[in-house]
Amino acid sequence: MKRPYTVIVSEVTVDGKLTLAKGRSSKEIMQFMDEEANRYLHETRAKMDGIMVGAETIRTDNPYLTVRYVSGKNPTRIIPTKSADIPLTANILKKDAPTIIVTTTSASVEKVNKLREVVEVVQIGKDNVDLIGMMDFLYNRGIHKLMVEGGSTLNWNLLKLGLVDEIRIIHMPFIVGGEDTPTFVGGEGFKELSEVLKLKLRAHFLRGSHLITEWEVRYED
Ligand SMILES: NC(=O)c1ccc[n+]([C@@H]2O[C@H](COP(=O)([O-])OP(=O)(O)OC[C@H]3O[C@@H](n4cnc5c(N)ncnc54)[C@H](OP(=O)(O)O)[C@@H]3O)[C@@H](O)[C@H]2O)c1
Repeated sequence: MKRPYTVIVSEVTVDGKLTLAKGRSSKEIMQFMDEEANRYLHETRAKMDGIMVGAETIRTDNPYLTVRYVSGKNPTRIIPTKSADIPLTANILKKDAPTIIVTTTSASVEKVNKLREVVEVVQIGKDNVDLIGMMDFLYNRGIHKLMVEGGSTLNWNLLKLGLVDEIRIIHMPFIVGGEDTPTFVGGEGFKELSEVLKLKLRAHFLRGSHLITEWEVRYED
């Protein structure tokens, strides 16, 4: 299988959280990201062919996923959703950039048809989006560099399947706490030391007042 070179980029608090609490938008925390760190995020977006977030992030944060802060081309927005439950008012359905909704054959026909009136919708998988099949589809569509911006469920599912090459963290100088506050990677987790993913630090630097770390994912180690 050919797949895009895939980079997860995330704003993460010192205690590993993505947001203030389950169901809360990460925009609340991101408003404290300074101009330089935002430039880093948007420079990265501008270098990519595609940008992906999970459907829960669309419902919670309602992002645009476009390039701002710097000039550059908007990547194609890709949203996996098994249910096709994307509000028709979502900003990713606006015309600023192309959008592909990746859903399943079990999604509501009515929802799929409504979305098809405004963006491209493909069905890859039956009960859940087949992420490996989706990556193959994206590569064949010319999306060879893909950025993923969360949330924690999608991050877990991609990492677990060995589909991520790099991780870039914009560190947020906060402690949020909370047992069920989403962390950078959610899911069931690796239970054995032999299974945990190993990372190699590639770079660390400041952008504005934010520490940025860039990591290579080492599936073979
Ligand atoms: N700090 C940051 O950088 C950052 C970035 C992004 C998000 N966030 C935060 O993260 C939270 C959302 O994270 P989340 O973990 O709840 O949700 P998520 O990862 O954004 O989305 C999960 C959803 O993705 C869809 N999906 C479809 N196929 C999938 C598959 N094979 N594997 C995984 N997901 C699949 C499903 O949508 P359906 O339910 O529609 O089927 C699933 O419910 C929000 O609070 C948001 O603010 C923070």
